[in-house]
Amino acid sequence: MTMTAAANFPSRTNEILESLRTSGQLKHLQMIEGPMDATVRIRGKGEVVCLCSNNYLGLANHPEVVEAAHEGIRKYGAGTASVRFICGTFDCHEKLEDRIAQFYGVEASYSFTSCWNANEAIFPTLCEAGDIIISDELNHASIIDGIRLAVSIKKGLLRTVYRHGDLSSLREKLTEARSNPAITGTIWIVTDGVFSMEGDIADLPGIRGLCDEFGALLIVDDSHGTGVMGATGRGTHEHWGMPATKIDYFTGTLGKALGGAAGGYIAGSRLAIDLLIQRGRPTLFSNALPCSVACSATKAIEVLMREPQRVAKLRDNVEYARAGIAATGFSVLKSSTAICPIIVHDTAKAIAMSRRLLDLGVFVIGFGFPVVPEGHARLRVQISAAHERHHLDALFTALKKLDR
Ligand SMILES: Cc1ncc(COP(=O)(O)O)c(C=O)c1O
Repeated sequence: MTMTAAANFPSRTNEILESLRTSGQLKHLQMIEGPMDATVRIRGKGEVVCLCSNNYLGLANHPEVVEAAHEGIRKYGAGTASVRFICGTFDCHEKLEDRIAQFYGVEASYSFTSCWNANEAIFPTLCEAGDIIISDELNHASIIDGIRLAVSIKKGLLRTVYRHGDLSSLREKLTEARSNPAITGTIWIVTDGVFSMEGDIADLPGIRGLCDEFGALLIVDDSHGTGVMGATGRGTHEHWGMPATKIDYFTGTLGKALGGAAGGYIAGSRLAIDLLIQRGRPTLFSNALPCSVACSATKAIEVLMREPQRVAKLRDNVEYARAGIAATGFSVLKSSTAICPIIVHDTAKAIAMSRRLLDLGVFVIGFGFPVVPEGHARLRVQISAAHERHHLDALFTALKKLDR
């Protein structure tokens, strides 16, 4: 590399950061000085109501979940110091994976250090040349990147995107795929269960119907639906009254409703899990999930299975919050999920509003480009079963004080 090329990096990086700063789009990391809960203590701000975490069931600071993590550390120590196939598989991993499979009612599951990792594993491992992956255009970035990785590794593996939530667009893509002689293998359809930025719900019965008609397999990333959707929090399929067996593969996170620590998983057939153990690159080349997290996540799932009333409380809170936000004059995108986006269009405005809300004692993050498309910036309010009515009332009071 020449001196000029090396010198180029600081100047172009400063330029990017400066343009974010001057356009009011620079993100600020808030320092949290205690546990994640209905309220959090933020450095320089004090105790504020937290309305932007994925702590949907309030399990991140649940005493049994925290104790399970302590127990995990005591029993297994701080780290696994290995990938799974060398000497990184502990019996707490097996217990967690059995529990996840039991929770869904599927044959098997396998854990990863994040759902991002799970999505990076599933497509390159299960898909082959001659297959095609058909993906909703608003799928999570980890799905998009997992697919990009897969098609870059496997020459002859195809991908295409259908319009968000649009079954006629999906049908068109399936029809094209079936008449494409290059597609000799499997057709895969992948969708989020609950879309993370819109808070809307995939039409899983409609998508399943198309899978059956065209002989395709269905992967659902239900990171925002697990623990939230359906009477017992099994996820988006339960919301639609579908058995889990109608979804061929689930990917999901342990970093949201299921204890909130970190980690992800793939759940489905034993056959696919066996292949992932043999061939998944994040499985073969990256450390195992920390044992403390395997233990705390297992406990979180047990608490959820034992206390479905947490899901009911979350649902009540969601209804109350959605009605309350609407009464302030802001409009929230319609859905029954715990993600309540308030569209304000402009990124700088969303960030300024989020700062003002924090000064008013309410922690809500503003999202803009590139996380959402230009012109669709929003405040994303997320509701938890940990919230009491007075926490949500504090949000309504603060929203009323914002300059529109
Ligand atoms: C749909 C979806 N998939 C995957 C992820 C990534 O999860 P993790 O934090 O476990 O990597 C997220 C997190 O925001 C998500 O919303």
